[in-house]
Parts: sequence; structure tokens; C-alpha cells
Amino acid sequence: MEMTKTLGEFIVERQAEYPNASGALTSIFSSIRLASKVVHREINKAGLGDINGAAGEENVQGEEQQKLDIYANEKFKSALAARGVVCGIASEEEDKYVNFEGNSQDGEYVVLMDPLDGSSNIDVNVSVGTIFSIYKRVSEVGQPVTSEDFLQPGDKQVAAGYVIYGSSTMLVYTTGNGVNGFTFDPSLGVFCLSHPDMKTPEDGKIYSVNEGNYIHFPEGVKKYIKYCQQEDAATNRPYTSRYIGSLVSDFHRNLIKGGIYFYPPSSSHPSGKLRLLYECNPIAFLAEQAGGSAIAAPDQRIMELKPTELHQRTPFFVGSNNMIAKVEEFMREN
Ligand code: AHG
Ligand code: MN
Ligand code: MN
Repeated sequence: MEMTKTLGEFIVERQAEYPNASGALTSIFSSIRLASKVVHREINKAGLGDINGAAGEENVQGEEQQKLDIYANEKFKSALAARGVVCGIASEEEDKYVNFEGNSQDGEYVVLMDPLDGSSNIDVNVSVGTIFSIYKRVSEVGQPVTSEDFLQPGDKQVAAGYVIYGSSTMLVYTTGNGVNGFTFDPSLGVFCLSHPDMKTPEDGKIYSVNEGNYIHFPEGVKKYIKYCQQEDAATNRPYTSRYIGSLVSDFHRNLIKGGIYFYPPSSSHPSGKLRLLYECNPIAFLAEQAGGSAIAAPDQRIMELKPTELHQRTPFFVGSNNMIAKVEEFMREN
């Protein structure tokens, strides 16, 4: 059988797309690729060792940390620190941003990440992911990183992507020239191009939301959910409801099949739950690059938000263009 292109080969082939950063980005992707293989290995035997379950600590947001959250954080952090091109990181699992000392100080890039997304799904053998977002630093090279390096709007992302540890492990990324997906072949230990130039359908028929929170949603969102459930042959309704509870997995499915994912504001959580910098921005970048859209509110693109805090949350609506337009319409009217 002829082997398809590997991720490494693909990155080299595409280097012309980011002429000022080719070496650095190649290096950052090598780090991410390596760490994701290590996490893949650990996840695939999660039931066998003692890596399952809670670690007995909470992260800065008061959420219980799972052992694999911490494990994945350490693996990605050390892989990114090892090559001298990343000067610092921010992570869901780190209270503050982390400055990489030594050689890394000359690095020009920062990485923000959710090392393990959907971690409450780990113990029950359901897909989880890693989300990452790459920016050029704005502080002076050779100096420690500053919070300004991390509080950049999503529009400034140089690259972003996710790894999904699902029925197979995949890495999906963008550098602003479309979206490409690579499936991990464990027998070879390489990611192979399996989903070139991914495009999301303009229309979809899947809606993904935690409907248990329905009672707390704003009126417009409630009405949109009812709209999804109504019968209408012309628009293919009722839509199908699918919600895994791992953003990466829910988004990945909808990206391919067409659909909408939303984590709306609610009376108990006015900013929703998802984190702008290392969940929503990278997913928004991918969505737009695949021809879809991502908003926080009507006429408010996620990637135009000006971040003020590392762990800030935002309402999030992402997916097929026509579905986003429809939910916007309902929110505007209510
Ligand atoms: P994380 O595991 O990184 O904390 O993220 C979980 C997020 C996201 O992946 C998912 O879509 C959402 O939380 C699910 O939240 P609910 O359980 O409130 O629906
Ligand atoms: Mn997450
Ligand atoms: Mn997480």
C-alpha cells in the first residue's frame, strides 16, 4: 500500500506559507506531535495503570484535576520547552503563564493550551483532546515573557489546532491557510495526512449543547433550541442532538458533518464555561479556516475579543455558517 504524506513531510512542504517562521513553526509542531504521541499512549492504557481518576487537587478555576490533566500538561510543557523556540506557555492547568528560561528566552513564540480537554470523560473511555494556540510574542526577545504575550486577540494567532484521542488519534491544525487533518498510525508512530483541506458544510443538522442547563439559558437560545426540535421538511428539521461533553470531540464531529456547538451564557454562569484563550480562540480559528464561524454574541466574532485575563470565559457558538446566522437571529430578537 502506498503511504500517504506524513505530518512532518506536509509541514516541510508547506513552509513557504509562513516564510518568516518556517523553522520555528516546524519545531513547535515537532514538540506538539511528540507530546501528543506520549499522551496517546497513556490514554490508550488508562484503565490499566493508576493514571485514572482524580489527582486530589483543584486547578486555579476550582475544577478537580484528573491525573491525566497533570500528566498531559507536563508532557506538552516539557516538549515545548525543549527546543528553544517557545519562550513561554499558558495552560488551563497552570495558575499563571510560565516563562521558559535559558535558551528559550530567545524564542519568539508563546503557546496556550488546554492539555486535556474533556478530562471528565477519561474514566469512562470517551474521547478527549488537546487544544493549542500559537502566537508570536509581543515582548522583547531575550527577556522574560509578559502577560501581553498571552492576552492577544485570536486574530493574531499564527497557528492553532487540536489532537483528538478518539477511536483513532488525529491532529488537526491550521496556520491560516485552510485546515488539514492527520490520523495517527500507531504501528508506524506517525501522523498521516487523512483529511486534506477540511471544509465544514454551510448547513448542518446537528446541534450540540448541554440541554440540562436549558432553564438557565437566555430566551433567544431557548427559542433556537426549540427551533432545532421543530418539524419542517424544507429545512430538514428536527435536527439531531449530539453532545459528548468534550469540546474537541463535539467540534470535530460537527466540523466534518456540519452542525452547531454552543455553550451559551446562563443565569448561573453569565460568561458560559469555556475559556477564551485556549479553548474558544483556537477552535474559532479552525472553524473559520474551514469556512464556518464562531461568535460570542450576535455580531461578535470570538477572534476579535480583546482578552483581559488568562483564564477568562466566554459564551461560545461555533459551527456551520447558516446555523450560526440562525442562532444570531434568535438572540437578536430576544
Ligand atoms: P476541560 O475538561 O478541559 O475542563 O473541558 C471541559 C469542557 C468542554 O470540553 C466541554 O464541552 C464542556 O466542558 C462540557 O461542559 P458541561 O459538562 O458543563 O456540559
Ligand atoms: Mn477543555
Ligand atoms: Mn482541560
